[in-house]
Amino acid sequence: MSYLGGIILRKVTKFDNRSFDKGKKKFEDKRGKYGKQVFTAEMRRVVGWIVLLLTVCSISLAKVNPGWAADLSNGAAVFSANCAACHMGGKNVVNAAKTLQKEDLQKYDMYDIEKIKYQVIHGKAAMPAFGGRLTAEQIEDVAAYVLAQADKGWK
Ligand code: HEC
Repeated sequence: MSYLGGIILRKVTKFDNRSFDKGKKKFEDKRGKYGKQVFTAEMRRVVGWIVLLLTVCSISLAKVNPGWAADLSNGAAVFSANCAACHMGGKNVVNAAKTLQKEDLQKYDMYDIEKIKYQVIHGKAAMPAFGGRLTAEQIEDVAAYVLAQADKGWK
């Protein structure tokens, strides 16, 4: 009787062990999958925050200093090729009052990257329009260069 009982007990425990192992494995598989999903979602959120932070930083930096986004050495090259004929050293050989010195830019409300870009694109009076000759990037760079030089007194 006890022998039979032992067999039954062993069978039951064996069965139990096996089904327990199976259940455990299933649970672990599920947890692994679920855990991965949670991890990916978390990573996505973290990466999203980093991207947002970098965007905000670069926008505010570009606002504080417009020259930051532009390539000043390219701006210098564009200036000597297209502007220096009339504006050598920040002067104005055509209209001597309207130099590129900071005081004159401020006096004529031109100490502003958008206004300089607009005038370079469209021209004004004796100053030719460069909209068709320069790319948007070249115009951005040369305008930033003019402002940077004005800040330095063209020295
Ligand atoms: C043919 C000569 C000529 C060339 C080339 C020229 N400009 Fe001018 N620029 C002028 C004249 C003339 C004015 C004054 C326009 C006016 O009557 O308001 C002027 C005015 C300006 C002003 C405003 C100055 C102020 O004190 O109000 C800026 C900025 C300027 N030019 C930038 C440039 C840039 C940048 C380039 C090259 C992409 C350039 N200019 C090329 C003749 C020129």
